[in-house]
Amino acid sequence: MAAETAPVMALQEALRFSGIRKVFGGVKALDDVDFAVGAGEVHCLAGENGSGKSTLIKIITGVYQPEPGAGMQIFGQTYGHISPTLARKAGIAVIWQDLALFAEMTVAENIAFETLLGNRPRAVSYTRLRKVAQDALARLSDDVHTLSAKVDQLSRKQLNELL
Ligand SMILES: Nc1ncnc2c1ncn2[C@@H]1O[C@H](COP(=O)(O)OP(=O)(O)OP(=O)(O)O)[C@@H](O)[C@H]1O
Ligand SMILES: [Mg+2]
Repeated sequence: MAAETAPVMALQEALRFSGIRKVFGGVKALDDVDFAVGAGEVHCLAGENGSGKSTLIKIITGVYQPEPGAGMQIFGQTYGHISPTLARKAGIAVIWQDLALFAEMTVAENIAFETLLGNRPRAVSYTRLRKVAQDALARLSDDVHTLSAKVDQLSRKQLNELL
C-alpha cells in the first residue's frame, strides 16, 4: 500500500468498544458488549426498553464509566478513561432524545455551551461565546436578534429553529 494512503486507513475505524459491562446496584445493564463503528457508517441500535442502549451511549460519551476491563478506542486511539470533555474533543457528539436546552440561559449560551466547558473553573469569554453562537446561527438564518434572549422567552417557532 502506498505510504500516502496510511492516514486515511487509520481513520477507517471510528469506534471500537469491547467487553463493556455496566452494573447499577444489582442490575446488569450491559454484559460483555462489543460495539464497533467504521468511519462513515450509520448504525441503528434497537432493543426493548431497559435493554441498555442509553447506557452504552453514555459510556461512549464519557457520562458513565464502564466496569474495569473494558477496551475503548476512538479513531484508533486507546483510552483508559473517557470524560464528556474528552469524548467531545475526540469527535463524539450526541443529539439526545430529550429536550436538551437550558431554559434559564440565553440562546447564545445554549448554542455555544461547549465554550463554557473545561476541566477547571475559569472566566468565560462572552465575546468568544457570542461569536461562536452568531456564526452557528448565521449558517441557518438571517435572524440573529434572538441571541441574548433567554430560551424560556422564545416562541414555539423560535424554539424549533434552535433545536
Ligand atoms: N442511573 C441508573 N441507575 C440505576 N439503574 C439504571 C440507571 N440507568 C439505567 N439503569 C438500568 O439499566 C438498564 C438499562 O437501561 P437503559 O436506560 O440503558 O436502557 P435503554 O435501552 O436505553 O431503554 P429505553 O428504550 O427505555 O430508553 C435498565 O434496567 C435500567 O433500569
Ligand atoms: Mg434509552
